[in-house]
Amino acid sequence: DWTPDSFVESTVAELKEKLGNDKVVLGLSGGVDSTVAAVLLDKAIGDNLYCIFVNNGLLRKHEFENVLDQYKHMGLNVKGVDAGDRFLDKLKGKSDPEEKRKAIGNTFIDVFDDEAHRIENVTWLGQGTIYPDVIESVSVKGPSATIKSHHNVGGLPDFMKLKIVEPLRMLFKDEVRRVGRSMGIDDELLGRHPFPGPGLAIRILGDITAEKVRILQEVDFIFIEGLKKWGLYNDVWQAGAILLPVNSVGVMGDERTYEKVVALRAVSSTDGMTADWVDLPYKFLQETSNKIINQVKGVNRVVYDISSKPPATIEWE
Ligand code: XMP
Repeated sequence: DWTPDSFVESTVAELKEKLGNDKVVLGLSGGVDSTVAAVLLDKAIGDNLYCIFVNNGLLRKHEFENVLDQYKHMGLNVKGVDAGDRFLDKLKGKSDPEEKRKAIGNTFIDVFDDEAHRIENVTWLGQGTIYPDVIESVSVKGPSATIKSHHNVGGLPDFMKLKIVEPLRMLFKDEVRRVGRSMGIDDELLGRHPFPGPGLAIRILGDITAEKVRILQEVDFIFIEGLKKWGLYNDVWQAGAILLPVNSVGVMGDERTYEKVVALRAVSSTDGMTADWVDLPYKFLQETSNKIINQVKGVNRVVYDISSKPPATIEWE
């Protein structure tokens, strides 16, 4: 019978056998899959696992610091790499969604490759690939497509030539969570909403500047903290805010304002393939909208996205 405990026991034994004294490099994203994969590998080979957590500058507010701390508390051998400026620089002037994705994917690969080169004699690349990723390996979005497009222009980066170890490749998401829980990973981390690799870049419609990232981080923070405070976070599959590329007219005191509009999006789903907008309480929306407009300089209007997928997508880009 499959149980999380027996899976951990047999997988750790297999990893020990397979890896011996070899070194493994693994990219942590802050998400469930890479974290659970890292903890399993850590149990098997300890500090021969080298984790790299890259800040692309497009994460949620405080996310890089908080998650890095969490990883350290878990005893992982992790290096945080703050590369926000490098990503912003590559994104400068780009407003096409796929160009933004490509710039972020390629920059990630460069940063990760640089870091992997610093580890002497590393022979394995650890990945948090899960079963749905395996069967959907020809996805339009996501890392495999990113790497492919990079490969076509620049040749395969060195870390991609490493042998691959993927301890979760036979598991579904709910099994990954159960395995994580049985190893003592925090429920808060295991229950986090999915967050796209390109991060806030695909929620800032049009081109990206440090100021727009700051605005969206503040808005997103108010929205997500509010969901948690109201006990709604776990009823929602994914939530976030989108910074629209339009200004709208408002009034403040006697002054006319002309500032940004943000959209809030919260969906229910099982796998992200289809999704419904969530019927959040009006009182919650009211409180959240007021907070955003009062506290975030540069925003004077909030709208709520009531589109289902299909035909809309979850992200706006
Ligand atoms: P859509 O917008 O296609 O999103 O309905 C479905 C799920 O995929 C996530 N998503 C991405 N994840 N890289 C990722 O790692 C991407 O480029 C990307 N685009 C969308 C999205 O957040 C949702 O969970």
